[in-house]
Order: sequence, then C-alpha cells, then structure tokens
Amino acid sequence: CNAFYLSSRKGGVQAWTYNYSTGPNQNWYEARKWCQKFFTDMVAIQNQEETNFFNDLLPFNPKYYWIGIHRVAGLWTSVNTSQNVPEEAQNWASAEPDTIPRQDCVEIYIKRARDTAKWNNENCNKLKGAVCYTASCKHESCSAHADCVESIGSHICKCHPGFRGLRCEEAITCKPFPHPDQGSHRCSNPYGSNHFNSSCHFLCEVGFRLIGAPQLICQANGLWNHPVPLCQVAQCPNLKYTNFSASSMNCSHPIAAFSYNSTCEFSCDEGYELIGQNQIICDRTGQWTATVPVCTGKLVIAFEFKSFCMVVN
Ligand SMILES: *[C@@H]1O[C@H](CO)[C@@H](O)[C@H](O)[C@H]1NC(C)=O
Ligand SMILES: *[C@@H]1O[C@H](CO)[C@@H](O)[C@H](O)[C@H]1NC(C)=O
Ligand SMILES: *[C@@H]1O[C@H](CO)[C@@H](O)[C@H](O)[C@H]1NC(C)=O
Ligand SMILES: *[C@@H]1O[C@H](CO)[C@@H](O)[C@H](O)[C@H]1NC(C)=O
Ligand SMILES: *[C@@H]1O[C@H](CO)[C@@H](O)[C@H](O)[C@H]1NC(C)=O
Ligand SMILES: *[C@@H]1O[C@H](CO)[C@@H](O)[C@H](O)[C@H]1NC(C)=O
Repeated sequence: CNAFYLSSRKGGVQAWTYNYSTGPNQNWYEARKWCQKFFTDMVAIQNQEETNFFNDLLPFNPKYYWIGIHRVAGLWTSVNTSQNVPEEAQNWASAEPDTIPRQDCVEIYIKRARDTAKWNNENCNKLKGAVCYTASCKHESCSAHADCVESIGSHICKCHPGFRGLRCEEAITCKPFPHPDQGSHRCSNPYGSNHFNSSCHFLCEVGFRLIGAPQLICQANGLWNHPVPLCQVAQCPNLKYTNFSASSMNCSHPIAAFSYNSTCEFSCDEGYELIGQNQIICDRTGQWTATVPVCTGKLVIAFEFKSFCMVVN
C-alpha cells in the first residue's frame, strides 16, 4: 500500500504519528482494518486544531478520506472511545448529515472547493482514502494512577484523584500531625506515610477518653478528613465536703481534679461510725469505685443489738 508519514513533534515528547493511504482507496471497514493492522486506529477528528492539521497536510484525493466516526444505534460514534460525538463537536458540511439509507460512515472533504474539511455521511462501502494514527500513549507513558489521553503531537497523563506529577507517579501528601498526648496511633500507608489514602487509627491510654474522630484519612486534596483527636482524662463526679458531713475527706489527684486515679479517703468524727468504703478511687471509665460513705451514730446501736442477739444464741 501507498502509505505516507505525517507527524507533528512538540516539546520533545513522543508524538502521535499519522499515516494515510489513497492507493488503493478502500471501503470504511477495510480502511479501519488497515489502520488497525499497521497503526493504532482510524482518526476521529473532533476539534478545529486537528481539522486544520489534516486539511493542510493531506493531499487532495477526489474520493476524499474516511475518518473513525460512524453511526451506531442512530448516534454518531467515535471508534477510539466508543462514545457519541457531542453535537457541538460535529463538523458537518451544509445539508449534512442527510437521511439517505445506509450512509452510516463519515468522510472528510479534504481540500474541497466548497465545505472544505467538513464532514459528509456516506455509504460505508464506497472506496476512499484512510487516515490513521499511531497512539503516543504506551503502556509505560503514564503511571498506573493516570489515564493517558492522546493529544495532537503528544499525550497527557490525566491524574487520578490523589496523584500528581508528569506521569502521575507521586501521591499527594498531607501534613504530618503531632503525636497525641496520652494516646497512640497506627497508620496503614499504601503510598507512604502521610500520603494519599494513609489511614490512621487513634487509641487513648487507659483512663483517657478519645475526643474526636478515631480514624483519619489523607484525602486527595492533601487534607486529613478530620482534625486530630485528643485524649481527655476520664472525669468522675466532683465530691464536696458537704456530701460527707461531720467528718473529713482527703483526696489526692495524680492527674487532674476528681479524675482517673484520684483517690479520696474518708474518716468520721469520734462517736460516728463510717458506713461504706473509707477509700474510693476514680476508675478508668470515670466512675467512683464505690458510693461516698456516710457517718452515723445509729450503727453503734445496731451493732450492740446484734452482739446482744449473738449472746442470746
Ligand atoms: C508510517 O510512518 C512511519 C514514520 O515515518 C513509517 O516508519 C512507517 O513505515 C509508516 N507505515 C507504513 C505502513 O507505511
Ligand atoms: C479520540 O476521541 C477524542 C474524544 O472523543 C478526540 O478528542 C480525539 O481527537 C480522538 N483521537 C483520535 C486519534 O481519534
Ligand atoms: C483509596 O481508598 C479508597 C477507600 O478505601 C479506595 O476505594 C480507593 O481505591 C483507594 N485508592 C487508591 C488509589 O488506592
Ligand atoms: C453531694 O450532695 C449533693 C447535695 O447535697 C447531691 O446533689 C450530690 O449528688 C452529692 N454527690 C455525691 C457524689 O454523692
Ligand atoms: C491526706 O493524705 C496524704 C497521703 O495519704 C497525707 O500525707 C496527708 O497528711 C493527709 N491529709 C489530711 C488532712 O489528712
Ligand atoms: C493509675 O494507677 C494505676 C494503679 O496504681 C497505675 O498503674 C497507673 O500507672 C496510673 N495511671 C496514670 C496515668 O497515672
């Protein structure tokens, strides 16, 4: 076959290359097979830049050229993406597309006197030139975190959320956070610590309560999805002297007032009996280990009565 080479190289990046054939002219299906056999596919010219490029560079062929657009289920569809060509991207010659049956393939009027570089729908079995491209996107052109998008003379790596860089090889980072006091965290880092999708679980030491979200995730925007949580000491109900009249209460607070590990000791004035525990401790959950004891004189009578009964027995 009579193939020629057209190419555009920009900015040193490996370029899309175009080849075309007019010898012999082929029907749309053969033209596409030829493109796929020697190159990547038939071009689906869809913007003005590409239209101008081809209209300048392809030689005049009285049969014109097939392009990679055809009608599928009533819609004009691009072969390279299998997607419908949006109406605003369709570039029809005047009075096209017409409704003549079986005119389901698209040709481009290269260097025509009227309607130059416009589209016409034609019977797919007519014989015309073919315009093909060789993709610039190769398996290794972009990292796994990108879609490679063909562009005229080049390709672009369109990064998935959470990645950046020319090949989208770099995960977005979040700011490291301070280690929480009285707590710890464990992270799983699929792309490195403090990078996109890092996920950290927080735990507080015994006697401390987590305030905030227990899990932080580094998001695609480079921010953690929640503020760093705090560990707050477990707080017990405050005790006052009024709760324990005619006696004394002596509390120690190793961490904070009436909170985890605070210990209160009680004693009753002479002549009173203490009922309950003489020492209570604020536990890890913020509960006193027992209720506040009471001082009373009545116990003495009860005790004497009990002794009396025992003697009788
Ligand atoms: C397409 O163009 C390239 C670049 O010049 C050339 O090497 C290749 O032989 C051409 N392909 C065909 C089938 O002619
Ligand atoms: C592939 O399709 C896109 C959008 O549908 C278009 O912009 C692009 O020019 C097409 N590329 C080729 C080589 O046909
Ligand atoms: C990031 O994490 C989300 C949620 O677990 C997951 O659906 C997604 O696939 C992950 N993305 C990458 C690129 O690992
Ligand atoms: C202390 O006494 C007050 C009223 O005198 C009562 O409302 C409160 O519940 C008591 N606190 C405890 C811990 O017993
Ligand atoms: C309170 O208890 C501490 C330690 O047990 C002790 O040193 C201190 O003297 C006590 N104070 C009173 C007023 O009982
Ligand atoms: C609380 O008291 C327990 C028992 O005495 C001790 O082992 C622990 O270290 C204390 N915790 C804190 C945070 O002071």
